[in-house]
Amino acid sequence: MRLTDDNLLAALPALGVERTADASLAERTSLGIGGNTDLLLIRKHESLPELVRLLRAAAIPYRFIGGGTNLLIPDGELPWIVLQLARRDPDIRIKGNFAWIDAAADLGRTVTTCAKRDLGGMEGLIGVPGTVGGALRMNAGAYGTQIGSYVREVEVFRAAAGKIETLRGAEISFEYRHTSFAPDDIMLTVKLELPSKPFLEILQGIRICNQKRRSSQPLNQKSAGCIFKNPPGGSAGRMIDELGLKGLNVGDARVSDRHANFFVNAGHASAADMLALIAEVRERVRKAYGVTLENEVIVWNE
Ligand code: EPU
Repeated sequence: MRLTDDNLLAALPALGVERTADASLAERTSLGIGGNTDLLLIRKHESLPELVRLLRAAAIPYRFIGGGTNLLIPDGELPWIVLQLARRDPDIRIKGNFAWIDAAADLGRTVTTCAKRDLGGMEGLIGVPGTVGGALRMNAGAYGTQIGSYVREVEVFRAAAGKIETLRGAEISFEYRHTSFAPDDIMLTVKLELPSKPFLEILQGIRICNQKRRSSQPLNQKSAGCIFKNPPGGSAGRMIDELGLKGLNVGDARVSDRHANFFVNAGHASAADMLALIAEVRERVRKAYGVTLENEVIVWNE
């Protein structure tokens, strides 16, 4: 989609919003899949209410992207403008056991920056690709850690109300790969409270998690992490593996040989290839186990 509204285009510089016309989202997602559209990079959080007001006034549909690491975006010309936050500098501030982190900050860098200040707890999240905002929205978790456990406050742009609000941790529910944020909420800043731990001890935990991840996940291939949520008490990866589906492909979309719940883009997979593979695997699991797997990856539908 191209932004052609003159009022809106004229307003962008004063709002600190930078436009990349005809941006390729395949280049901005870890799966390497996605069509093209105009991308608006937001340098000032405070501009969001006005920007969204203008988009709505001009009836321009928009979507929001974080790190693009858990997303499956359609091919071709996209019917939405895409918004993304630029990282603030500094993006992480620490005082005592509290860390204030910009939503656009890289999650891995956040874990290590906090570790250097002897703040631990998030070791399991090392190696989870993406931004802190994306991790918050999904309540990212790994190796027994989930980010929600440490959240004390979130500053969020609530599109429905058209304003920026601060929510206390207790007002947000964090469940397995699910939160109570509204779909159109945009995370801006989070305040975490982290337990004190000596740096070397945290480093040891980080090394162990990195090692586990390297030995079980296809880290050097294009993927969106796990495609399906684990069903209660079960493991989607194990079920898909048991059915002998590793290596199953639709075009260049392929079930990883390393971890069966990772579907990789082994070349030039299209969104349609990936969606067809997801549907095929879901159906085979349903037939064999009577379980309908839910997507963990976020799929943008029209
Ligand atoms: N397994 C197989 N074959 C496979 C994959 C797994 O038999 O191809 C077995 C493993 O041997 C193990 C069990 O299934 O006994 C569970 O596997 P694993 O420890 O890899 O964990 P997972 O449940 O598949 C979850 C998260 C991952 C997270 C890991 C580590 C989900 C959907 N996945 O995977 O998160 O990194 O635990 O904590 O909850 C993600 O969210 O994108 C993601 C990758």
